[in-house]
Amino acid sequence: MKKAAILFGSAVFLFANIFAGSATKHSMDIKGEFAKTHQCIRCHLTIYEEYKASSHYNSTPFRDPIHAKIFKLHTKATKEKEYQCAKCHTPIVKNRAIAKMDPKSFGYHQAISCAYCHRIKAIKHHPKANSNVISPKKGYYYGTRNPKIRSEYHKIDNTNIIHKNGDTCLGCHSHKQNDFGFVVCKTESNNTLKQNCITCHMPQVEGSLSDRVETPTHAYHGFAGVSRGAEKLAKYLDITLESKKHLIISLHNRAPHAFLLHPLRMAKMVVRVYRNGKEIKKFEKSFVRIIGKDGKPTPPWIANAVIKNSMLKPNEKRVIDLNFGLQRGDRVKVEFIIYKVNPKIAKKMGIKSQKTIFKVEEFDV
Ligand code: HEC
Ligand code: HEC
Ligand code: HEC
Ligand code: HEC
Ligand code: HEC
Repeated sequence: MKKAAILFGSAVFLFANIFAGSATKHSMDIKGEFAKTHQCIRCHLTIYEEYKASSHYNSTPFRDPIHAKIFKLHTKATKEKEYQCAKCHTPIVKNRAIAKMDPKSFGYHQAISCAYCHRIKAIKHHPKANSNVISPKKGYYYGTRNPKIRSEYHKIDNTNIIHKNGDTCLGCHSHKQNDFGFVVCKTESNNTLKQNCITCHMPQVEGSLSDRVETPTHAYHGFAGVSRGAEKLAKYLDITLESKKHLIISLHNRAPHAFLLHPLRMAKMVVRVYRNGKEIKKFEKSFVRIIGKDGKPTPPWIANAVIKNSMLKPNEKRVIDLNFGLQRGDRVKVEFIIYKVNPKIAKKMGIKSQKTIFKVEEFDV
């Protein structure tokens, strides 16, 4: 079904191209500072469809209800007149005045756009938060392949190493300090060409990168994470039953950063023991990173300390002894669940969380 739609799509475009005169050419002009994402559909439909469902397209307060809620609380508390979050959530917005926020204006509509990301030339490091240096050349996109054919629509520069080693993600994802110099979020990184943000979060998946060329795979543009495509990351968490006598489970986080990252998130392990086909015991263990002040949880803009951190650390192997004796013939089922918003916080703030069963492992004793 999907293939048929893509084939049909490209046939229509081919048709359009043969008969198109200057009107089509004109529609491909880059009018503002950045090309419209819509202009990429013509040749990169598969990538566009993945991207459209991703957090990067849905990063604005008009598309992400969780972001919208936190932004509203933040504005109320700080009396801020500008949408400061724009720096990372809607980086091509020019006028950040809250009074001027409009879902239809170019910057808000485009969110973190194709052209923006593909024009990141370098990352500038700052203690508060990094920033992106954007190449001034419109219609020149950084890529990583040796193109077989050239696009008549844009130029490709495949010499910028940051689009291959993942450092291109660190302008927005590296860290963020609040006004008290407290680090609210941090993504530890040891990016190498072999393994980095891109190899894990944008793995090669089936389907051509453009309908103009035939490539067996393309980089996944749904950006696997808590919101979407988590199953693509399941192999980076090992769940092991360490003993046949005692219920000892180990969790090995193979990611170079904490599991999970954002202070809103929560993870939970649920362990069930079955004897003669009946569930005889159930254990639950939660993983959180709670920030706050004076020992109490607070929103990030007030926090000055980590109150509790039980998240799995980068590359950590955590051994958890549940203090329960196993018998031969028992069956142990371990479920690892991730929550986009810690259910307690979600309830308090009246927002909807999202629960994903990240990985299930069963063991016969
Ligand atoms: C008229 C067709 C067409 C349009 C429209 C188009 N592209 Fe392309 N694009 C191509 C072709 C063809 C290639 C090269 C494929 C190859 O041989 O690897 C390509 C390659 C790329 C690559 C580089 C891949 C790599 O790693 O080397 C990027 C990045 C890219 N396009 C981004 C975009 C963006 C962003 C837009 C919209 C603003 C866009 N393209 C619109 C045809 C198009
Ligand atoms: C330095 C860049 C940066 C700035 C500035 C920034 N954010 Fe974010 N934000 C991110 C990144 C990166 C993520 C994704 C992190 C993750 O998923 O672990 C994110 C995720 C979020 C999320 C979780 C969204 C979800 O759907 O789960 C919320 C809520 C959020 N940001 C709120 C805000 C608010 C409110 C502001 C402005 C007051 C802001 N952010 C400013 C980079 C930034
Ligand atoms: C070895 C693979 C691997 C590498 C390398 C890696 N990650 Fe992750 N990442 C994971 C896993 C596993 C998770 C947790 C599962 C999930 O979110 O679905 C995760 C989660 C995330 C999340 C969502 C977590 C949250 O709390 O919202 C973001 C954002 C993220 N990674 C960004 C990055 C960035 C940026 C880099 C590069 C500095 C990077 N990752 C490198 C495997 C990796
Ligand atoms: C958050 C940043 C980001 C956004 C947004 C983004 N890309 Fe990419 N894109 C990348 C990176 C990084 C790569 C290199 C992946 C690799 O080498 O494996 C890439 C690769 C590509 C490729 C080559 C695929 C391959 O397998 O080599 C094309 C084509 C492309 N992007 C087009 C687009 C289009 C079209 C959009 C919007 C619909 C888009 N990108 C949005 C970061 C982004
Ligand atoms: C312009 C800033 C920016 C850049 C560059 C960027 N991101 Fe993001 N990313 C964000 C923001 C903001 C969010 C959260 C959006 C939301 O949910 O509201 C996000 C969300 C994500 C998530 C999803 C977390 C979830 O909820 O599932 C992943 C995974 C991710 N980014 C990976 C990457 C990778 C890999 C790169 C580099 C190729 C990258 N990002 C580049 C700003 C950026």
